[in-house]
Amino acid sequence: MKALVISKLGGPEVLEIRDVPPPELAGEQKLVVGLAGGINFADLMTASGGYSGTPPPPLIAGREFSGTLPPTGDRVMGYVQWGAFAEKIAAHPDLLWPVPEEWTNEEAAAFPVNYFTAYFAYWKAGLIDDPSLANKSRVLIHAVAGGVGTAAVEIGNLLGIEMYGTSSSQEKLDRVKRLGLQHGINYKEQDYREAIKGLTHGEGVDVVFEMLGGEHTAKSVHCLRDFGRVIVYGNATGQPGTLDPRILYAKGASVHGLWLTYLSKNRELMQRAWTQLSAWISAGHLHPVVGATLPLERAAEAYRLLSDRKNFGKVTLKIS
Ligand SMILES: NC(=O)c1ccc[n+]([C@@H]2O[C@H](COP(=O)([O-])OP(=O)(O)OC[C@H]3O[C@@H](n4cnc5c(N)ncnc54)[C@H](OP(=O)(O)O)[C@@H]3O)[C@@H](O)[C@H]2O)c1
Repeated sequence: MKALVISKLGGPEVLEIRDVPPPELAGEQKLVVGLAGGINFADLMTASGGYSGTPPPPLIAGREFSGTLPPTGDRVMGYVQWGAFAEKIAAHPDLLWPVPEEWTNEEAAAFPVNYFTAYFAYWKAGLIDDPSLANKSRVLIHAVAGGVGTAAVEIGNLLGIEMYGTSSSQEKLDRVKRLGLQHGINYKEQDYREAIKGLTHGEGVDVVFEMLGGEHTAKSVHCLRDFGRVIVYGNATGQPGTLDPRILYAKGASVHGLWLTYLSKNRELMQRAWTQLSAWISAGHLHPVVGATLPLERAAEAYRLLSDRKNFGKVTLKIS
């Protein structure tokens, strides 16, 4: 079968299309015929060697996909830790979900990581279990025009949240405002801590979705108002977040971690998330944002859209 292989550790140039044997199924795994793949920031990190738990190369790339289940041909979207960007994928049935009829293969491949992560970020912030709290809450979403960011905006709309979002580009902010973001902050032109202070009349926000790392973890805490929460789930800067816990004292602030790789092993939690997400899908509320689709052969170019901050929403790959 055709697959996208990480030939050695490095940048997108290490990606190669190769003919490889189909995967061997273990335990309850099902074989899926791969049709499209969704590229995540984690795929960049896996190729460069910065992603915990992935085996060394050569390794088939990709964490999420859409495809069909033989022999019925039922359409599914799914999540794995690697091996998604291939014509055949071995996936656990608990991490396969039916594709809504009206979605394209690319939209389906753009769903699992973005929406489960965004859902869990709101859940960790306490805004899923208490809708009355959500209604009064302000959330700052970093990289608001990206994959997780656009999913967080769609879910934030449904929860009635006042959303603030950062991006490097006004054009991206204008596009994400059309999805329902109320306040866009272009961090190339304006310091986001100052912007939040101004926009919230000095009060701050209740929650920050923090995926930058480095100085931004502490800076995000400084954007909070009393009893605010920072949900930490990435370090796109490449730097580990720096934080002196003493800055949490005054406002009774807290910092929470979130890692979908780990949570995805918790059946009950994933089922609860899917029950809510699928209800929103059935009501026509969720529409995965696909900014670009490239053939598998142009995967290196597709990866660079993310590392060069040129993506809007998800970048997907056409597998067959
Ligand atoms: N913990 C988890 O379970 C989990 C799950 C999914 C994703 N994540 C994390 O969430 C973040 C977003 O992931 P994603 O796949 O949805 O990617 P993405 O947001 O679609 O793409 C990355 C975006 O981050 C912004 N960015 C800011 N600083 C950057 C930098 N130094 N280098 C590159 N991009 C930078 C860019 O947007 P602007 O130009 O608009 O700033 C870029 O487009 C990543 O940090 C990822 O690791 C974590």
